[in-house]
Amino acid sequence: MITSLIMAGGKGERFWPKSRTNLPKQFLNISGNKSMIQQAVARLEKLMSIEQIFVVTNELYAELIRAQIPHLPIDNIIIEPSGRNTAPCIALSSLYIEKRYPDNTMIVLPSDHIIKNESEFVEILRTATTVAERDGSIVTLGISPSYPETGYGYIESSKEVQIVNGMEVHQVRCFVEKPNVITAEGYLNAGNYYWNSGIFIWKSATILHSFEAYMPEIYRVMQDIKVKMDAGLLQEDIHSEFLRMPEESIDYGIMEKANNIHVIPCKFGWDDVGSWTALDRISERDEFGNVIKGNILNIDTKRCIIESNNGKLVATLGIEDLIVVDTDDVTLICSKEKAQEMKLLLKELRIQK
Ligand code: GDD
Ligand code: MG
Repeated sequence: MITSLIMAGGKGERFWPKSRTNLPKQFLNISGNKSMIQQAVARLEKLMSIEQIFVVTNELYAELIRAQIPHLPIDNIIIEPSGRNTAPCIALSSLYIEKRYPDNTMIVLPSDHIIKNESEFVEILRTATTVAERDGSIVTLGISPSYPETGYGYIESSKEVQIVNGMEVHQVRCFVEKPNVITAEGYLNAGNYYWNSGIFIWKSATILHSFEAYMPEIYRVMQDIKVKMDAGLLQEDIHSEFLRMPEESIDYGIMEKANNIHVIPCKFGWDDVGSWTALDRISERDEFGNVIKGNILNIDTKRCIIESNNGKLVATLGIEDLIVVDTDDVTLICSKEKAQEMKLLLKELRIQK
């Protein structure tokens, strides 16, 4: 049985002020006419039924998920008492999913990515599950890097390649999470590195063994949770156990250490929509390179991202390379260069409160 787990606990802070703590990026319509999580669910429904799709999130967002995906069975929403990064999130969720569907093969994926070619995406997932089931390995989907991004994981592929369903599947030599820029430049030039798309495919037994081998503290808590689950305790009764897990990402905790990883190079038009400048890649631009949404009047404006979210007119004259986002209570004006550093503003705001 194939299942999927959509991780939807992120705060989407670099998309402030459109993305807010009570309505983060994954619940917003960034491109297309559905929210990002609605698009993520719809993509997976091409491969499996809604009963096989699980969403894991913070308590804060459970209502939003019910409202945006009303056909998702309520028991398929897994709630964390608070976010402890992706390793605990995946550990807890795999226990729930395994209880419902013993010996399942899981596709774990973010809630806030854009994938342009959906049919290609579905075909790749079919191949990935075949490999994960046959070899008991961790399968990753790799994207050819186009610049030395330091916010991604890098996957070094070996020359060992097999063809499965007409697709190349490489053995992975090593996985490096968020390298520094010099290292990332080296990887870019080397030619045999891929960006980690953040989508993982594995058998439930594979990930369980990986926790046991590489994150034993999490594995021990998983054993305690399993006892409670088998005794019929509810999600709320397990929260205190969950909070005993160390905060860590799956990338640092398992991917950098595991030695049974495969990568499938993918060309399905992937973007993780990390910050406002992603709109330059995924949205239509006018003849002056501007991305414009809402009620905008612009003259002599170049390469700007301008959004009005409340019907108010935003007028610009003679500006370049800026991000201007107007919402009911906040107006952001930011240089594109600083788009990655939005957290500085949020930190300052929290101090002032
Ligand atoms: N439920 C839940 N709980 N979801 C979480 C949590 C959590 O505690 N933490 C993160 N997520 C979700 C985020 O919403 C996102 O969809 C996904 O898990 C990945 O987390 P990020 O925080 O966005 O990770 P990252 O961007 O630093 O790095 C990951 O993604 C890159 C590609 O976008 C890594 O997997 C990198 O290796 C990868 O290149
Ligand atoms: Mg991310």
